[in-house]
Amino acid sequence: MPNTKITGLGYYVPENVVTNKEMEGWMDTSDQWIQERTGIKERRYVTRHEEGTSSMGAKAARIAIERAGIDKEDIDFIVFATLSPDYFFPGCGVLMQRELGITKTEIGALDVRTQCTGFVYGLSVADQFIKSGMYKTILLVGAETHSMGLDYTTAGRDVTVIFGDGAGAAILQATEEEGGVLTTKLHSNGTFAEELAMINPGSHGGYHGDVEKYGYNDSAKYGDTFISQKMLDDGMLYPQMHGQLVFKHAVVKFPEVIKESLDEAGLTAEDISLLVPHQANLRISQFVQRRLGLRDDQVWNNIQKYGNTTAASIPIALTEAWEAGKVNPGDLVCLAAFGSGFTWASALIRWM
Ligand code: ACO
Repeated sequence: MPNTKITGLGYYVPENVVTNKEMEGWMDTSDQWIQERTGIKERRYVTRHEEGTSSMGAKAARIAIERAGIDKEDIDFIVFATLSPDYFFPGCGVLMQRELGITKTEIGALDVRTQCTGFVYGLSVADQFIKSGMYKTILLVGAETHSMGLDYTTAGRDVTVIFGDGAGAAILQATEEEGGVLTTKLHSNGTFAEELAMINPGSHGGYHGDVEKYGYNDSAKYGDTFISQKMLDDGMLYPQMHGQLVFKHAVVKFPEVIKESLDEAGLTAEDISLLVPHQANLRISQFVQRRLGLRDDQVWNNIQKYGNTTAASIPIALTEAWEAGKVNPGDLVCLAAFGSGFTWASALIRWM
């Protein structure tokens, strides 16, 4: 059975830097509050009309392709993780395929919709395809354009200050060498689906709960359902988050799913060379670090610069760590994430 090796990494973040201080001018918040509660100092926003989720994904992908030393036509499958796609459909995978000009080979493109865990879920899917022998070279991308869908008034401040835009990419290839992706663990619990969600626009028609609460307009039998006037009037087209509940679950599930991966691989936290956690909140990462008994130099955090870029956060952080010389052959790299769904996941990689 072949193993799965990461042969190229790349990331792209927009040039436009938005500081906490700038946000103070838009809503009732403060640089001090944001830094103390989340660790974030600044984030990046796309230049509107010029870039978006699939185009940022393509920029990150081009770097990963070059570093892997392959031709784009060598790629035989695409996995694209995002919660902020360019279009409701089709997905970003095909849009990025077009942007990269990989149309000659007409390869498949799959979009993954698991939010913060999107990159780890995507890695697991790609790993299974490679280990089964179905594909040999897969392009995996996580990218987000949060800045187009946030509430910039005080009502949305708990969510809006957290998120940023960006993209990260990896080339995964089949190898006969020992190592690479050792294990991936994936979990979800839909009981908490609405605790961290963007409900509208959607086709739910209010059937998951209180019709009024979710902005469904019952006045028309057909039409006026996907986006109702009430959703627009009441500002119901933004993400909603029960921050404390997410936080409480995250600090339990992160260590749990990491231990699950370690147990399966017959390893312990002491074997981890570098932990690259999803960048949701610096306090969550620090809690996980303490729980695993890792030193500061064994955990890669960059939320200070980019905020939470959801599906892009792990590949951006992993690429930065690799560029900084923190990821070397033989190292045990652990990826872990928790987020909307709720979903949580981990991966262990013996770097080659
Ligand atoms: N600026 C100033 N004050 C604020 C802000 C803000 N941006 N946001 C909230 N507040 C206020 C609240 O209104 C509240 O005021 P009150 O005490 O007068 O009612 C106070 O600050 C405390 O609010 P909490 O929600 O209790 O603050 P907390 O310490 O929990 O921090 C946070 C909030 C940062 C959102 C935290 O709960 C968190 O990080 N949760 C996890 C988020 C996460 O991991 N999300 C998953 C990834 S996202 C995805 O999957 C799409």
